[in-house]
Amino acid sequence: MDILAIETSCDETAAAVVTDGHDVRSNVVSSQIDVHRVTGGVVPEVAARLQLETIVPVVEKALADAQADWTSIDAIAVTAGPGLVGSLIVGLETAKALALAKDKPLIPVNHLAGHLYACLLPRHSREGGNRSRAATDPRVKPEDDGFSFPYLGMVVSGGHTEFVLMRGHHDFELVGSTRDDAAGEAFDKVGKLLGLPYPAGPEISKLAERGDPKAYAFPRAMLDQDNFDVSFSGLKTAVRQTVEGKELSKQGLADVCASFEAAVVDALVTKAVRAVRATKPAAVLLGGGVAANRRLRESLTAKLDVPALLTPPEFATDNAAMIGIAAYWMRDGALSGDARFAVPADPSLGLSATR
Ligand code: KG4
Ligand code: ZN
Repeated sequence: MDILAIETSCDETAAAVVTDGHDVRSNVVSSQIDVHRVTGGVVPEVAARLQLETIVPVVEKALADAQADWTSIDAIAVTAGPGLVGSLIVGLETAKALALAKDKPLIPVNHLAGHLYACLLPRHSREGGNRSRAATDPRVKPEDDGFSFPYLGMVVSGGHTEFVLMRGHHDFELVGSTRDDAAGEAFDKVGKLLGLPYPAGPEISKLAERGDPKAYAFPRAMLDQDNFDVSFSGLKTAVRQTVEGKELSKQGLADVCASFEAAVVDALVTKAVRAVRATKPAAVLLGGGVAANRRLRESLTAKLDVPALLTPPEFATDNAAMIGIAAYWMRDGALSGDARFAVPADPSLGLSATR
């Protein structure tokens, strides 16, 4: 089954062709980062306008790269939420128009589910080479479809930080989340304080490599609370108070980055370990842009006593391949006829609503 997937939830315009939920035949991502760097963050109206300018060539390139034509496409998948409403609408309405013009079923997908399905990715994908799930999860036999529910899903992105129990395909229960900033948002805000370019996550983690994670004792909020929630706003304030009015040396900057990163990672991993103890999943899925963070990947893998299925770093930040993979596992719910046109863009779509 060939799915054309479209993802426009924030500041990436993305399209992909995915076969049978694992073979990523094309994966085109057009980023607006250079534009948003100038303003130090995403301006929603600007993001939506750029989505509109880019969506058609991106879809065309995804089809061309996959050497697919419309006769071979079986369904169109698209992110319906959560995200910036103006950005979401561009992808969703494009998908609806294509579904009508080419007479294809439509599969609306939750962006956060996409991030989690990216962890269950490519056995045979071009993008992922030979990176096989069987290689990361010893209990997975190559001949089965490779799923061993329940999973504990961690979505750690610029907009969300959530722990969810995934009991089956598209069957999610929220077990914990951030009380304030998302982890990626904390990286981006702290980066702004430090004068680093947007998005600051990759910059901070690069600088942190040369820093001392113990140089500053930044707070790890809510660790004493018996829940699976996290909070990063106090951490951001602590970093601000540390650096305000100070001229940081190169080493000082690296130390702040390393100490900040260590605090975020500690909080996330501590709560993940506790959530694993409570929910007893077969494995933990780590998805979302912050899943590209090396320290988080290493710490999670080291501290868990169940396998950690980490998104391949190239699929961690927003892309449409993950939407095509997630869509395959809800293909029975594909919409046809007029039902396709009733799907709303939902900026605050929750994970458990995707079932
Ligand atoms: O999933 P994503 O592309 O977009 C959302 O759905 O939000 O995540 C983007 C976020 C940004 O906040 C970015 O700073 C963060 O992911 N990020 C990282 C790294 N790479 C991206 N944060 C920490 N370390 C990284 N290596
Ligand atoms: Zn995302």
